[in-house]
Amino acid sequence: MIIDWRVFHVDETVSTNLDAVKGENGDVFSAGFQTAGRGRLDHKWFSPPGVNVLMSVVVGVGAIPPEEVATLPIVAGLAVADCVEYLASALPGEMKVKWPNDVLFSSRKVAGILCERRGDNVIVGIGVNVKEQEFPPDIRSASCYIGGRVEVDTVRDALLEVLKRYFNEWLESGFAVFLPRVAQRDFLKGSFVSVSQTDGDSSPVEGVCGGINDDGSLDVAGVKVYAGQAHIKIQRS
Ligand code: BTN
Repeated sequence: MIIDWRVFHVDETVSTNLDAVKGENGDVFSAGFQTAGRGRLDHKWFSPPGVNVLMSVVVGVGAIPPEEVATLPIVAGLAVADCVEYLASALPGEMKVKWPNDVLFSSRKVAGILCERRGDNVIVGIGVNVKEQEFPPDIRSASCYIGGRVEVDTVRDALLEVLKRYFNEWLESGFAVFLPRVAQRDFLKGSFVSVSQTDGDSSPVEGVCGGINDDGSLDVAGVKVYAGQAHIKIQRS
């Protein structure tokens, strides 16, 4: 159980995911700026100072079977989507989870999640675009931010509340209870997708996406994909 978060905030660090390596269950490492923020698949995660949520939370998973641990990133994505939708409720648009763990608002990325296993812990690194308006050219058209009057600290604190609730539910009851809500937010389900696999078999898997499975994998025309990068080739109508 996560009884309560212990938040350690600094103005600047290299990467909160690196800071979290020394953390324990329930610790939160938050920063205003990262000099070498890390994204999935060895990408960089750049964020200007003070405008976005940059934090990593430590979740103890020593008692959870490895196949269940694989579903934690999806639960984290759902928590971010539910929380951001609530905070940005004045804005029109749909909040979706894109497997494995991007959060999209009106089809543009508003948050990214990088989960890393360290011994008995999973470090859940979360970046949420809150006030960043000028994105680098290569991701500009695919990115968005919450905007409005919402403050970065407000988003971080609200998100920590939702994460605590969802992670405790996941630790007690498992992923199955989240599946219906995940299905409602599933960005890829029903579209024709191409997924480049990142765990061994490098050939892309293509077909109509059946959605996220109960083990956290993605169903692509009946094939289970456990790790990869997906894009939509033909949007569901
Ligand atoms: C992705 O979409 O590629 C995942 C991005 C994760 C970024 C966050 S920001 C806080 C934490 N610290 C890092 O270095 N990365 C994660």
